[in-house]
Amino acid sequence: MDDLVDELGALIADVKAALADHALRGARTEARDAALPEAVPVALDAADEAPADGAIAEDVAVEEEAPAAALWDRLADTSREAVRPLDPADGTGAEGLARIQADLGDCRRCGLCEGRTNVVFGVGDPDADLLVIGEGPGQQEDLKGEPFVGPAGQMLDRMLENVLGLRRDQVYIANVVKCRPPGNRNPAPEEAATCKPFLLRQVAAVRPRLVLVLGSVALREVLCLQGIKRSRGRETRLGGIPAIPTFHPAYLLRVPEDKRLAFDDLKLARARYDALGGRRG
Ligand code: URA
Repeated sequence: MDDLVDELGALIADVKAALADHALRGARTEARDAALPEAVPVALDAADEAPADGAIAEDVAVEEEAPAAALWDRLADTSREAVRPLDPADGTGAEGLARIQADLGDCRRCGLCEGRTNVVFGVGDPDADLLVIGEGPGQQEDLKGEPFVGPAGQMLDRMLENVLGLRRDQVYIANVVKCRPPGNRNPAPEEAATCKPFLLRQVAAVRPRLVLVLGSVALREVLCLQGIKRSRGRETRLGGIPAIPTFHPAYLLRVPEDKRLAFDDLKLARARYDALGGRRG
């Protein structure tokens, strides 16, 4: 019986890998063919100093392989969640978002409320075709009550404008957790789990054509996948919506060598955005 279960597991993993490769190859061809800016440094560089607020801890620590069984559990879980369509039960666009924000209120559902200044709900076009998911507010976001306004936010703005051809106000930006983790530590799984339903409701209300998932924490919490280096640039689905993971901008500020890889992911995202009918301007 155990042998059979192992064999089935291996078979399903092979099929998933083949499907992912197939999707990736198609998408990469489209990306290659798209007319895009060639110079990575011009697209993503400038103001590359490390974020003053210490930045959100990212990537490196989460790169270890998850134990196979745990990873399989998460993948199994993902496929259910990823395929299940998100239900815009709150209503769509600005109206839906307002309802979700009212429900979130002055949230005290987890311990992160103790240290926060503001709940950082989300910002941007309530009907955006691209929705960007980050990890959680840093110091400046906490003070302003808006996601991605510090150095990582400036990097994100360049990623969006210079490669995707989209201004910040043309997309919708939200985080896995709405309150700043103390010292910019990664959100704990319980904190992320408490906040995640609100994020999924936001995604359902905005109804984007494409989701851009930034960094290993969002990858793990939203797509239930481990290892941003392995998963980046590979299209997957969130509630049936195409989703592309890439490096977190704070990570790119610390490890600029990886901007070239991020640039490839963003070119892929641009090609998919266009192919999916995403609006620009
Ligand atoms: N990093 C994030 O993940 N989100 C923000 O809002 C700011 C920095």
